[in-house]
Amino acid sequence: MTSQILFSALQLGALTLPNRIIMPSLTRMRAGPRNTPTALNAEYYAQRATAGLILTEATAISEQGRGYPDMPGAYTAEQVAGWRLVTDAVHAAGGRIGLQMVHHGRWSHSSYNSDGSLPVAPSAIAAPGVAYRPDFSQTTYEVPRALDAAELPGIVESFRDAARNAMLAGFDSVEVHGANGFLLDQFLQDGSNQRTDAYGGTIENRTRLLLETLAAVAGEVGADRVGVRLAPHGNLGGLSDSDTVTHFNHIIGALNGRGLAYLHLVEPRASSAGIGDNASVDSANNAQLFRRRFAGPMLTAGAYTPAMAVDTVTAGLADAVAFGRMFIANPDLVERIRIDAPLNTFDRSTSYGGGAHGYTDYPSLSPLARAG
Ligand SMILES: Cc1cc2nc3c(=O)[nH]c(=O)nc-3n(C[C@H](O)[C@H](O)[C@H](O)COP(=O)(O)O)c2cc1C
Repeated sequence: MTSQILFSALQLGALTLPNRIIMPSLTRMRAGPRNTPTALNAEYYAQRATAGLILTEATAISEQGRGYPDMPGAYTAEQVAGWRLVTDAVHAAGGRIGLQMVHHGRWSHSSYNSDGSLPVAPSAIAAPGVAYRPDFSQTTYEVPRALDAAELPGIVESFRDAARNAMLAGFDSVEVHGANGFLLDQFLQDGSNQRTDAYGGTIENRTRLLLETLAAVAGEVGADRVGVRLAPHGNLGGLSDSDTVTHFNHIIGALNGRGLAYLHLVEPRASSAGIGDNASVDSANNAQLFRRRFAGPMLTAGAYTPAMAVDTVTAGLADAVAFGRMFIANPDLVERIRIDAPLNTFDRSTSYGGGAHGYTDYPSLSPLARAG
């Protein structure tokens, strides 16, 4: 297989990427105390600096926005200093890195809030499944508290503050997490959004919070440093929509004309890939369905092999392809794709939590193998 097309440069807004092989956001639950990135996190990201662009693991925009143990945040000066270790290490290794910003919404638990308050959501509907508490113990999800419309400007401001902090920490870009079952996705999809105010009901209303967030973040850092991740047909966190194609045609169309750096779509075949063992297979192909709806650069993710990535970029269905589990297991994935070398196997058991094992100790190719 020739992977040459993946090695042509790509302009994503203000960023020039040397290749089209993206490391997407990958939650690893290995931040230090007070949700602060550490030197170990810096080493992990720097090992992967040959990616065209690294996107960090989902990072909480506020205390209320948390939902996984030992996930990093971007809402304190200490966290900004921790992230500075990471961005400096990635830049020293020649890479580019964007911060993925998340509010977990209902996919959280009261044990994350210092006042013990319930998680918040568009509507008071619990996520299915099992929640992690901050100490990694498990429990069921609570019925969240439906956000009052008067609280939503505060959520938007938290995204704006996190974007400002990202720039202070030295990030090249930010990605607004509108996918995979978290708060903004909970507003977009009507299974979880049953509001009757200006943020629910019609698809225009359900898209409002996402667009307000993007406008605030772009106003802070410049639209050409802002990407957005969406997952049409995504069912993570128990989300569902009554008319996905029609509704996401609207949502994606509404992203045009804003000068965003990129749209990042997750394919439904990867819907359960991040969390459970039962990858849900869905015949819908988001790149095919929605690529033409968005006028700017598009990234795609979801169980891609390098050969599929070549086909997808060649067909013009995306400008770059993200490889999640392969990047966890192969710090030098870019080089391995370039020379068509065998890949290390991903070890699911070390995905979440723990230390260096399964994190910074996946081997790179030896110099001899690279030469061969
Ligand atoms: C361990 C793990 C953690 C993940 N964490 C995130 C995350 O924090 N944010 C996000 O948007 N997607 C997350 N994902 C989804 C990946 O970004 C990617 O879309 C998915 O793994 C499909 O790509 P792959 O099949 O190449 O792994 C995660 C996936 C895995 C396997």
